[in-house]
Amino acid sequence: MLLKHALAVVTGGGSGIGFAVAERFVSEGARVVISGRNAEKLQRAAEKLGENALPVVANAASTDDMQRLYQTAVGHFQCNVSVVVANAGISRQTPVRETSVEQFSEVLNINVGGVYSTVREALPFLARPASIILVASLAANQGTKNFSAYCASKAAVVSLAKSFAAEFVDLDIRVNSISPGVANTPIFDTLGMSEAQLLQWSNVIPMKRPAEPAEIAAAILFLASDASRYMTGTDLAVDGGMSGISPF
Ligand SMILES: NC(=O)c1ccc[n+]([C@@H]2O[C@H](COP(=O)([O-])OP(=O)(O)OC[C@H]3O[C@@H](n4cnc5c(N)ncnc54)[C@H](OP(=O)(O)O)[C@@H]3O)[C@@H](O)[C@H]2O)c1
Repeated sequence: MLLKHALAVVTGGGSGIGFAVAERFVSEGARVVISGRNAEKLQRAAEKLGENALPVVANAASTDDMQRLYQTAVGHFQCNVSVVVANAGISRQTPVRETSVEQFSEVLNINVGGVYSTVREALPFLARPASIILVASLAANQGTKNFSAYCASKAAVVSLAKSFAAEFVDLDIRVNSISPGVANTPIFDTLGMSEAQLLQWSNVIPMKRPAEPAEIAAAILFLASDASRYMTGTDLAVDGGMSGISPF
């Protein structure tokens, strides 16, 4: 068991990659706090995870919510937090000519501000050693038509992981990011993309299929566990070959 007795916090743990991470962490012996904004979704997820999971409704972009989340986590399980997965995020189509600065900022506020709050408010509650994993995206390094806000937000997440890693290296706190390519999760339900567009994306993946959330969770488990103890400030690509293999 790679995470025996560990207490982990997974933001956005009610669905998709976050839920798969929580499921894998529990199977590896961890106690897990999952968060999100939708109480019913979180409750259903926690019931599936069993008694070692605690749902806490919290907006990752709210300092107050995140402080309350960590206080609740530590109070409930009576130990400090040794793994934080800053996974909560949204994706939107934001064509420049139709997207106001306010709409652009909303994506940045959740995807970047939310990660910042998740990490900053964790600090007083962290065990030593601790591992923090920020969920970025392949989109951090690839300009994508109609997704400038999302791409910029994920580039910022990769950058934050490196600066956090530098700031916390002497505190025995490791920070890495992970960049999935395309994973089969509910995030696509919100994008207003046609089946044909999604199929087109799948066809350019060298492995010719999207990832299952469990495949991303396996890589996050590696970064969370002692198996990666000599890694900090790294971005790990888990993308079926998309970032490393030319389509030609
Ligand atoms: N799926 C992919 O292809 C892919 C690829 C690269 C990166 N990613 C990244 O992976 C992460 C997880 O996404 P997913 O694909 O698993 O999609 P998902 O199922 O939609 O998961 C996102 C989760 O984040 C939560 N969330 C959103 N905004 C939040 C906020 N302000 N505060 C707290 N929780 C919030 C959502 O719950 P509530 O709605 O209840 O708040 C949801 O459970 C995201 O950061 C995404 O950008 C996904």
